[in-house]
Amino acid sequence: MKRNLSNNNLNEVKKLRTYHVNTPQYNLYNEMHKNQTFQYVKLKTKEYSKLNKCKMTIKKALALLDDFIDPSDPDLDVPNSIHAYQTAERIRKKYPDDKEFQIIGLIHDVGKVLFSFGEPSWSVVGDTYVLGCKFPKSIVYYDTLKNSPEYDKYDNTGIYKEKCGLENLHISYGHDEYLYNVLKNNKNHKISHKYLNIIRYHSFYPWHTEGEYRQFMNDNDYIILSDVLKFNDFDLYSKEDDTEITIEVKNYYDKILDEYFFGDLNW
Ligand SMILES: [Fe+2]
Ligand SMILES: [Fe+2]
Repeated sequence: MKRNLSNNNLNEVKKLRTYHVNTPQYNLYNEMHKNQTFQYVKLKTKEYSKLNKCKMTIKKALALLDDFIDPSDPDLDVPNSIHAYQTAERIRKKYPDDKEFQIIGLIHDVGKVLFSFGEPSWSVVGDTYVLGCKFPKSIVYYDTLKNSPEYDKYDNTGIYKEKCGLENLHISYGHDEYLYNVLKNNKNHKISHKYLNIIRYHSFYPWHTEGEYRQFMNDNDYIILSDVLKFNDFDLYSKEDDTEITIEVKNYYDKILDEYFFGDLNW
């Protein structure tokens, strides 16, 4: 089932996510497609599941994004913390009473603190895709996947079973899976599971926007899909905003973060 987009929306998606060759985005995906193998994903998932890198508050992690500009994104050249507030503000405008959803807008990219542990960009940012089955042609810069040692190694189902569920797929490693794991395994916050899944799959464009990997979905994954798509509009279109991030805005989010997070998290 492909996503139903009106012509207007489709044009907007195209305008916002346009990928050219010989750009920083091309170079990043080229490295990603060469280096993210099935074994690499397993290794990184295991390494970061230990949560032994450091202890810090969610606010400290968010502040680290002041120093990170996402090189995979053709539509953003501001520090990621600005994108965080702009996404949250877009959600607040539409859902003024839904503080938890606003917080998800604010923190959804905080997993990019992986850069501060020395991870290369191709292991932090960019659209994600599945290892261990055939690469769908709708993946951004599909041609560079031909440099993957796993190109043409698998068929559509690969090592998986039909309807095995998204949670059993090995998805290329990056900030989605990392923050999902941090939030899943730290108990000193009140973020609910529904929102953890939005974080986990928000960069999984081949799945949520291109309609790929339907062979692996179970019934519950369709609920996750509709949650992720609802969030994606705020994540994507906030890149067109020039909302000013004032002290009042920052204070508002500091206050609601204090309601949902308690002390240091293990990272
Ligand atoms: Fe992201
Ligand atoms: Fe984002």
